Amino acid sequence: MTIGIDKIGFYTPHLYVDMNDLAEARDVDPGKFTIGIGQEKMAVAPLTQDPVTLAANAAWEIIDDQDRDAIDFVIFATESGIDHSKSAAIYVHQLLGLKSGARCIEVKQACYGATAAIQMAKGHVALHPESKVLVLGSDIARYGLNTGGEVTQGAGAVALLIGQDPRIMTLEEPSVYATEDIMDFWRPVYSEMAFVDGKFSNEQYLAFFNRVWEQYKSESGLALKDFAAICFHLPYTKMGLKALRTILDEGDEAVQERLKANFQMSQHYNRNVGNIYTGSLYLSLLSLLELQDELKAGDRIGLYSYGSGAVGEFFSGILQPDYKQHLHVQDHKAMLNSREALTVAEYEDIFKSTLPTDGTTVELDVEQDPAPIVLASLADHKRQYLSR
Ligand code: CAA
Repeated sequence: MTIGIDKIGFYTPHLYVDMNDLAEARDVDPGKFTIGIGQEKMAVAPLTQDPVTLAANAAWEIIDDQDRDAIDFVIFATESGIDHSKSAAIYVHQLLGLKSGARCIEVKQACYGATAAIQMAKGHVALHPESKVLVLGSDIARYGLNTGGEVTQGAGAVALLIGQDPRIMTLEEPSVYATEDIMDFWRPVYSEMAFVDGKFSNEQYLAFFNRVWEQYKSESGLALKDFAAICFHLPYTKMGLKALRTILDEGDEAVQERLKANFQMSQHYNRNVGNIYTGSLYLSLLSLLELQDELKAGDRIGLYSYGSGAVGEFFSGILQPDYKQHLHVQDHKAMLNSREALTVAEYEDIFKSTLPTDGTTVELDVEQDPAPIVLASLADHKRQYLSR
């Protein structure tokens, strides 16, 4: 039996800010944001989108009735969750109409959470081959207005269906991982905004990458030439490029050109969405699979996951025959192209608007949000979602 990714869904809100506009407003050379950081557009979540709705919308496009019968485990990975107690997975379970005979949990380890969820899902399917596991990686990245991290904000979710004999990509062993207790990026429970030691986080991202990559090669016996592409967690696209550059000279010219070309394809969605934290690596994988026509069945894709704090992991997958037929290329193209540009002032107003925390009732203007699933109201400290 092989186990892996059977379907991939993606959702990002309908609003964005252009990085050239943000650069002008912050009195920064636009080249710093578009080349130095490598971001074009930053998705902005209106109040009607939270991590639950983003994930539910991402899953909505991939789940059919057969999946509803088979899904018995929903794992919601997030670092911007809405409740310290109840898992966001339960809301999505209800919104998607999944069967009651299912486990629902939330997992957290910064941007590494979705990878932990996938590995947990793999173990579950190995024990229960008929099961399917819905893994959700959903986040709204907030560093604050006028901060160094602002240009690396974003919002969105990826939904992955994990099962046996997957139609998109099987997941291989070994998977190599490492943990160190460091303070490169964190968000205390009392803060709406992340704290970050920017330069240190960059260094640690690279140090973890080099460590797990070296160990992966020694455990697997594979080398750079065995990879058609490597996808990275992309807090901003230049970060992945920096990591790739540290190992490129392990391949000959043809290998280097292939990996560089495929990296370009793998960063396109992230460049236009921003950091979606735990879903970011899988958004990059989706970008590669949907935009690169030269990949073929049997190709090996490397995946580097990094979650500050910190955990790093390197693993790989093999593309399956006809994997392209199970993607939603046109839908994603339409979703990204139909978004509305905000002025920086409009983005700042949305950024500053918050939901009440004193139990008062608020009805949100859901007509302004084209998403199928929205947050409609808040009353008595309870969120009411609407699926339409
Ligand atoms: N044209 C082209 N490039 C320019 C430029 C211009 N006009 N001006 C500056 N640049 C380049 C710089 O040379 C630099 O390039 P290199 O990194 O290749 O040297 C790049 O733009 C960035 O410039 P700075 O280093 O001066 O930028 P900064 O001080 O504003 O900080 C940052 C950048 C540290 C990434 C900051 O945005 C930040 O803190 N971001 C959030 C943290 C983060 O994303 N960390 C990544 C690793 S942690 C992780 O992965 C987990 C996670 O999701 C958060």
